[in-house]
Amino acid sequence: METAIKAAVAQYEALLREQYARAEKMKQASPATDFASKQKIVIGLCDGDGIGPIIMKEAKRAAALLLRDEIGCGRVELREIPGLTIERRLACGQALPPETLEAMYACDVILKGPTTTPKGGSLESANVALRRELDLYANLRPVSVPQEGIDWAFFRENTEGEYVLGSRGIELPETLAMDFKVTTVPGCRRIARAAFEYARANGKTRVAIVTKANIMKKTDGLFSALCHEVAADYPDITAEDWYIDIMCANLVNPAVRGQFEVILLPNLYGDIITDEAAQIQGGVGTAGSANIGDRYAMFEAIHGSAPRMIEQGLGAYANPESILRALEMLLRHIALPAQAGRLAAALSACTAEGQPRVTGDRDGLTCAAFGDRLLAALEGAT
Ligand code: IPM
Ligand code: MG
Repeated sequence: METAIKAAVAQYEALLREQYARAEKMKQASPATDFASKQKIVIGLCDGDGIGPIIMKEAKRAAALLLRDEIGCGRVELREIPGLTIERRLACGQALPPETLEAMYACDVILKGPTTTPKGGSLESANVALRRELDLYANLRPVSVPQEGIDWAFFRENTEGEYVLGSRGIELPETLAMDFKVTTVPGCRRIARAAFEYARANGKTRVAIVTKANIMKKTDGLFSALCHEVAADYPDITAEDWYIDIMCANLVNPAVRGQFEVILLPNLYGDIITDEAAQIQGGVGTAGSANIGDRYAMFEAIHGSAPRMIEQGLGAYANPESILRALEMLLRHIALPAQAGRLAAALSACTAEGQPRVTGDRDGLTCAAFGDRLLAALEGAT
């Protein structure tokens, strides 16, 4: 056991030094891309696994239609990025095949179908690797239920916390296992800044800072303290602390949930609570997710590749709304608000009360049928 402990300590020291270097590097802030003045915008398209190619097909049809003029004059290019499949990732033993990553670096923004993450083993999640490699630190997940007064914008820290060393914990065989949660000063500051800037730009007056700082004293304590430090620059916005457990309860409490606007939280809590929030909106199949960095951004569905749906032969019934919401956010991000608005209006029309629904099962619309209806709505021919 002595040898195993010594090896673990050496591993820990290497991790600590690596994370220190990561934090130092993060302090050199890079300017955000100004899409409004950018001459050419390359949108990378990755199908992903499971239901990914099925829902992406509808998103690609919508994108081609919405961006017809921009593509026609060469301002926007839709570019297929191959290789982000579980088969290819297992074959090369890497979360991101090198040629896929290279192709992504040559894009500005990416629309990505869900990818499969094997449980256990050593293959890292493609999502986690992508967020790290492209430094996509802000995960924005909007959830809205207008008839219930719900309009939430979750800002989830997307590159650190429990995720950054999630595949690199320490084990003493037959005895114990330790994973790590890493919170850095620049990492907290930049996600807090993104959330407060969003609040200001969207006329929001409340930011809820959600942690478990009563238990995770060092990491969540730092997160909360730095969010309040950033909040001081936004005197018109109220910043308040909540613990993640009661926040989960609040979201299902109709008496209080309407009061929340921007919800700012560390990585893993953000992962969990946004599935809960999406369910309140109508299911994870309805929610989009924006992964935003200063240079790159990636847009995707909030959910995974749904292997069970594929096994049960229900892939054709997958709901493309989530990836279409992601496309809407992508269009907004690249400074094409009119096209985003057009998509939002068509989506609202197709999902309004009384419209035929995609249920994820044979009793509902197929993904392709929903896509047809959406395209008709986009053409203004419903
Ligand atoms: C999400 C997903 C991912 C995450 C998985 C696929 C790694 O659940 O985007 O919320 O945990 O972040
Ligand atoms: Mg999740």
